[in-house]
Amino acid sequence: MSSGARSHTAPSDRRPVSLPRLLEMKENGEPIVMVTAYDYPSAMVAEAAGVDLVLVGDSAANVVLGYPGTEMVTLEEMLVLGKAVRRGLKTPLMIGDMPMGSYEAGDELAIRNAQRLVKETGCQCVKLEAGGISAERAKAIVSSGIPVMGHIGLTPQTATALGGYKAQGKTASAAIRLYEDALALQKAGCFSIVIEAVPAAITEAVVEKLEIPTIGIGAGPSTAGQVLVFHDLLGITTGHVAKFVKRYADVHDSMVTAVSQYSDEVRSGHFPEPDHVYSVEPAELAEFRRYLEQESLSSQQSWDWEPLP
Ligand code: KIV
Repeated sequence: MSSGARSHTAPSDRRPVSLPRLLEMKENGEPIVMVTAYDYPSAMVAEAAGVDLVLVGDSAANVVLGYPGTEMVTLEEMLVLGKAVRRGLKTPLMIGDMPMGSYEAGDELAIRNAQRLVKETGCQCVKLEAGGISAERAKAIVSSGIPVMGHIGLTPQTATALGGYKAQGKTASAAIRLYEDALALQKAGCFSIVIEAVPAAITEAVVEKLEIPTIGIGAGPSTAGQVLVFHDLLGITTGHVAKFVKRYADVHDSMVTAVSQYSDEVRSGHFPEPDHVYSVEPAELAEFRRYLEQESLSSQQSWDWEPLP
């Protein structure tokens, strides 16, 4: 089969993805496919492509809302995006990303905002970033009945403190901290952990020690699954992309070409064509034209008879 014609499981054959199913996939060595989505059409694409997990990621800040970093996106904005994604999904497990400021300050805040994400968007799980205090917040949210995904390595919400957008866990001491964060998140009850921008060999060593499925992004092939940002993999984002991004399409270029062609055709009078217009019964048109003629005649007459002031 050519790479351009790979088949995927038809959505109608698939059952909704559950947490036990994810564990089963990890145990069977069946790779877990996760992608981000931020609106109804991207969710429909993820659904039709048959992915397992959909994350309404706070990367929306950059790729959808045009902010310079994920620190700026608010919970209210994530709620709007999450609701739209929900309407486009049936099968994948939907995860709502908790934006910066929505969980760090205390367990009560974290539970309240995780509940808002679940109740208002219909996501089934939430994700939060980093270890340390985040493991405590994860534990609190899990005890409130909401499944939590962790996220370690390069955590964009705290990228400045990490020294920028660069690979993490590159020294033995950094790798030990990464491992400890992973263990703490697993102990807190997280059902899975995203590992971002970590050397493949370090990820492999960490993953071997964990029981829960891990999802990698720039972390090599040893994780139970992989995630990419929707706009990155489709080539909707332009300019610099991280080393770990593989582009599977050039949608930005296709969109610019199509919109330019449309502009040219409007300006040259080639659009709309007869196929794009509605027709009307000739008799109805004739009657309407007669009406317009009469109306313009009578308004002309009333103008003529207007008494002088
Ligand atoms: O927000 C996001 O898109 C993410 C993924 C990169 C895991 O956190």
